[in-house]
Amino acid sequence: MGSLRNREKIHNPVLVREVLDFFAPLKNARIIDATVGTGGHTLALIKEGAEVLGIEADGQMLEVAARRLEDACPTPNQNGWGSFKLVKGNFRNIDIIATEIRYSDVDGVLFDLGVSNIQLTSPNRGFSFSNPQAELDMRIDPGSQGVRASDLLNGLRTDQLVSLFELTLKSGPAKWLAKGVIKSREQKPIKIVEDFLEVCKDLRTRSKLNKATLPFLALRMAVNSELANLKEALPEAFSLLKKGGRLSVITFHSGEKKIVLDFFHEKKREEKGKILTDGGISPTSKEVDENPRARSAELWVLVKS
Ligand SMILES: C[S@@+](CC[C@H](N)C(=O)[O-])C[C@H]1O[C@@H](n2cnc3c(N)ncnc32)[C@H](O)[C@@H]1O
Repeated sequence: MGSLRNREKIHNPVLVREVLDFFAPLKNARIIDATVGTGGHTLALIKEGAEVLGIEADGQMLEVAARRLEDACPTPNQNGWGSFKLVKGNFRNIDIIATEIRYSDVDGVLFDLGVSNIQLTSPNRGFSFSNPQAELDMRIDPGSQGVRASDLLNGLRTDQLVSLFELTLKSGPAKWLAKGVIKSREQKPIKIVEDFLEVCKDLRTRSKLNKATLPFLALRMAVNSELANLKEALPEAFSLLKKGGRLSVITFHSGEKKIVLDFFHEKKREEKGKILTDGGISPTSKEVDENPRARSAELWVLVKS
């Protein structure tokens, strides 16, 4: 049997060197990776000697991470490596998850937001418009989430659809798209990716991205309550840090960035934290060339006073 790397696709983690540098020194440091994905950041942290609690809401991703990390680190705390423990859960419950296993007073918490390219390219999960025949699902954790993307498109009122699309679009295009969805579902329910692509195809936007990119992102954010989860998780994560501990967040769009910066500035005003990354840390052009998904990534770090 080949190693896991040969058998399974793995997400390319972003800004790894920068994340490690902000958490240093990592020998015996207690770190929570709140978005384990396929375990890239966790593996890098363990290699530097950290003890990592990894949290992940998507059971499929967690299985990939578990196999990968067990392959790489079968015996904890050997050869200078650290250890890991993985928990399936939503990071909006980070305090309950960590406290239950007595994992508080930590040196660092990492959030690498959004979804991985493994989820995005998965042929049957409906995250991306590159699989037109997939059901329009988009749930990160289908076991605990009842509402699919298609349910939102078929069930929300016009004003609710407008608010949903305004997560990523300006008011005009959001209204236009909401009307398009209503018109389309009057003909037949919206079920698969192609049905929604058809609605998006004449969307007028100044963005250079594919016309469907921002509507699909808004839908994914709504299905998974992404902004609400982040808002809830940041104060909880901060409360788990010891004095001098670092909260690191990798954002990919302005909605995430606003929530992170509002929280960081609140802690700064209260003199409870210091921001270490004024303008955010972006990947080098070399990293973006090697991994185009990294292009919109920004790392933000707050240290607890
Ligand atoms: C960008 S990927 C992380 C990739 C990871 N750093 C790696 O190196 O493979 C984001 C991950 O966070 C997970 N996720 C998103 N929202 C979550 C939440 N509220 N709670 C826990 N995990 C979540 C997604 O399922 C996805 O696997």
